[in-house]
Amino acid sequence: MIEVRDLRKVFKSKRKKVEALKGISFDAHPGEIFGLLGPNGAGKTTTLRILSTMLTPTDGDARIDGVSVKDNPMEIRRKIGFLSTETGLYDKLTGEETLKFFGKLSGLEEKEIKERSDFLFSSLGLEKDRKRLVGEYSTGMKQKLSIARALIHNPEIIIFDEPTNGLDILTTKTVVDFLLDMKLKGKTVVISTHILDVVEKLCDRVAIIHRGKIVANNTITELKNEYNAKTIEEVFFSLVNFEGEK
Ligand SMILES: Nc1ncnc2c1ncn2[C@@H]1O[C@H](COP(=O)(O)OP(=O)(O)OP(=O)(O)O)[C@@H](O)[C@H]1O
Ligand SMILES: [Mg+2]
Repeated sequence: MIEVRDLRKVFKSKRKKVEALKGISFDAHPGEIFGLLGPNGAGKTTTLRILSTMLTPTDGDARIDGVSVKDNPMEIRRKIGFLSTETGLYDKLTGEETLKFFGKLSGLEEKEIKERSDFLFSSLGLEKDRKRLVGEYSTGMKQKLSIARALIHNPEIIIFDEPTNGLDILTTKTVVDFLLDMKLKGKTVVISTHILDVVEKLCDRVAIIHRGKIVANNTITELKNEYNAKTIEEVFFSLVNFEGEK
């Protein structure tokens, strides 16, 4: 379970001050996929980086299974699988060696690493590529390996920033199906995206974030009812006013 309460983040530099988050609150539950949907610069990555303890909030807090990201970042890191748009991989390792390396870093035993790797390679459709060098992987293969890397320790909480960015429709489907399976396994899943189609296929609940604020938070069906809209795209355009945007 994730509880986010009144998160604020101000980035300060000598020249200027950016209020990236202006008080964000939401809950995400086990067995549910929660989507943060918003345009470029809305604050999605900032929110997820705070949840994963890569950034500290200026104010407010987030709790994961009751543990505060402020008080106990090390415990949070054990509980979560975090995929960022900058997740690093090493070109000179094979897929299999990558998972072994990160599995060991997470303190897993050889046997667990083998079992988890078999499961992840097979469910992400990377089985035939596991012995190839990452340097030879395509964008889609790298993204799937990054997902496997993030989940090698079988965390209950999955926090993915733009998991389907840059993927073709086939690879997107593999990732969407994989995340739906994670949800059925009772995991708590939070993703960010600006791809409306992914939101419709994947998310049980959506928060629309715009200029550092949540402007709507509901199930997809309720959002459509509320805004008298046929699609999430229509809901999005009713809420997000692009006029005056730089
Ligand atoms: N390290 C930083 N220093 C200064 N400003 C930052 C920093 N990181 C983010 N910001 C600013 O915070 C705001 C929110 O950025 P964020 O990366 O969270 O947006 P996003 O919703 O993930 O956008 P995108 O869809 O483009 O990934 C932007 O105005 C951005 O310029
Ligand atoms: Mg982002």
